[in-house]
Amino acid sequence: MSACRPFDQVTATIERELMSYIVIGATGHLGTLTIDSLLERGIDPNDIVAAGRNTDRLAALAERGVRTQAIDLNDQATLTALFSADDTVLLISGSELGQRVAQHGNVIDAAKTAGVKRLIYTSAPKADTSALVLAPEHKATEELIAASELPATILRNGWYSENYLPAVEQARQSGTLLTSAGDGRVSSASRRDYAEAAAVALIDDTTTGKTYELSGDTAWDQQELADAISVTIGGEVAVHNVTPDEHLALLKAAGVDEGMAGFLVALDANTRDGLLGETSGELSALIGRPTTPLVDGLRAAVAVSA
Ligand SMILES: NC(=O)c1ccc[n+]([C@@H]2O[C@H](COP(=O)([O-])OP(=O)(O)OC[C@H]3O[C@@H](n4cnc5c(N)ncnc54)[C@H](OP(=O)(O)O)[C@@H]3O)[C@@H](O)[C@H]2O)c1
Repeated sequence: MSACRPFDQVTATIERELMSYIVIGATGHLGTLTIDSLLERGIDPNDIVAAGRNTDRLAALAERGVRTQAIDLNDQATLTALFSADDTVLLISGSELGQRVAQHGNVIDAAKTAGVKRLIYTSAPKADTSALVLAPEHKATEELIAASELPATILRNGWYSENYLPAVEQARQSGTLLTSAGDGRVSSASRRDYAEAAAVALIDDTTTGKTYELSGDTAWDQQELADAISVTIGGEVAVHNVTPDEHLALLKAAGVDEGMAGFLVALDANTRDGLLGETSGELSALIGRPTTPLVDGLRAAVAVSA
């Protein structure tokens, strides 16, 4: 029986052009939209490498003419085989909370070893100073990037409007928007807006060395969110503002597990504290158009999920 070829020999057969735009996380929502935007901006599909884990989604991306590569953020060999010195790399933050610093570190080490031309990373608002529950992994990743001394662009992405899809579904069933965010405001934008910014950062090397605080152009409160959901579903939606303890109890009573319930309540506390509400205008400046209004983002998200 012949032995299987080692993974790195298999991946080393990937055909290389002189220069590639490599998207790590291309199989995810943001990554796929970034590939869309690169293609819309006239980038040759053969200059794009879509890297991800899900083989079905990689196959769907390959049908669009881009090169694809299966990777595992936990397996550095799959990443080392991916990069060469002429590449510009977009590292979309991973989705496995608690493991991301090590996973991102694997990408950064592999990019450093290859000496890639530029690295772009999707971070979080004010990651270096924010009390946002999600900030520490992004702060640590930004520090790893700085220590690598690779030419880099940091895109500190604000909140996605699509995060409120579960709230839309909840409101459809109950007619209410449950929140403990108080008067906190959120400057969300649609994933497509952030994806366009990622594509611009990949293509435009004048973004190198810069850190962008990206957000929607306007910040809305919970009443405005309820109004936008109301328009989206075509029915009345009332804000049900509760204390954090009440919120936790209600989420658990609805069957949300303890860890997730605590996480959601902590995010509402961050919202109440204004950590997701700043409007820098840097996203619309980067993409050259206003960001997508909340109601339009929600409608599009509902249409895609239908
Ligand atoms: N700003 C916000 O509001 C917000 C909200 C949610 C998430 N985020 C962050 O933004 C990122 C992008 O958002 P998204 O909506 O595109 O998330 P997503 O759809 O969940 O995509 C996550 C991507 O990471 C890849 N990935 C995760 N673990 C991996 C592993 N061990 N090895 C290889 N690939 C792995 C996934 O690959 P496969 O799909 O192929 O498995 C996928 O391509 C998220 O990962 C998260 O860090 C931000």
